Amino acid sequence: MLEYASAMDLRGSIGVVTGGASGIGLATAELLLDRGTNVILWDAADNVEDVAASIGAKGLRVDVTNPAAVRDAAQAAGEVRLLVSSAGVGSIGNVWEVSDEEWSRVLDVNLHGVFLCIREISRRMVEGGGGRIVNVASASGAIADPGMAAYCTSKAAVIMLTKVAALDLAQKGILVNAVAPGPIDTPLLQMSFIVPGVREAFERIPVPRLGTPDEVARAIVFLLESDWITGETLFVDGGAQLGGPLGAWDRIQALAGDEAPRRTSWES
Ligand SMILES: NC(=O)c1ccc[n+]([C@@H]2O[C@H](COP(=O)([O-])OP(=O)(O)OC[C@H]3O[C@@H](n4cnc5c(N)ncnc54)[C@H](O)[C@@H]3O)[C@@H](O)[C@H]2O)c1
Repeated sequence: MLEYASAMDLRGSIGVVTGGASGIGLATAELLLDRGTNVILWDAADNVEDVAASIGAKGLRVDVTNPAAVRDAAQAAGEVRLLVSSAGVGSIGNVWEVSDEEWSRVLDVNLHGVFLCIREISRRMVEGGGGRIVNVASASGAIADPGMAAYCTSKAAVIMLTKVAALDLAQKGILVNAVAPGPIDTPLLQMSFIVPGVREAFERIPVPRLGTPDEVARAIVFLLESDWITGETLFVDGGAQLGGPLGAWDRIQALAGDEAPRRTSWES
């Protein structure tokens, strides 16, 4: 007799949010707290415990790229039913310029970190009879942004990891999904705003504004509460991945100026 996923009650469940000290992770943690979830923030940032205390959650300094740290934190967390993997880093650099160190750093946090959290926490969820996992991928995992090979590759891999994990875990009562945000107004994106024109370039998408962390958080909570969706990636991106005449090239051109890679197909 197979065990299928049953309705997930967020109230009273233990939920781990990685990258929870900032941005999308923090907004998700706040929404889950509103729903009565017992939230634990994992973040590499020094201030994670203070941030957690300020919203009524628990906080733990965890580097998601460290297998032993993730294993220990998962054991300490108790009977976790919910996992949101939001820890991530950005990166810009033409493919011929990206260093080994930068490539490894981005893949390590954005992909290996997500894998480690799924592995260690899904083991706890199996013991507890099931759970829900949502990974934060990116619209850049579906559209190729020039000058962002490491980041786009890491996020495309998260979308595939989500599907395989969903297959592996469905019969254990664990549903695994992803969200793919477009440009969201968080510290990660804001770092690029020091370059004139970049913010405006990011806003040149079909719904012409930046998204908010809360808009992504609501999509994450929707997936956490779902009982019949698994392996899915929900784009929360103002239509960014739909393409169109504006978008990636303008962003990269604004960021990298004359050093940006050139499009060749329609220059005359
Ligand atoms: N902001 C955007 O426009 C955007 C768009 C698409 C996807 N995303 C993704 O959303 C997720 C959250 O990003 P955000 O925009 O909220 O950024 P953010 O910088 O506000 O938050 C990211 C958090 O991850 C933490 N972190 C980084 N490395 C870590 C590690 N090794 N271990 C544990 N924690 C670590 C940081 O300390 C930070 O608190 C990321 O995966 C990012 O790639 C963001």
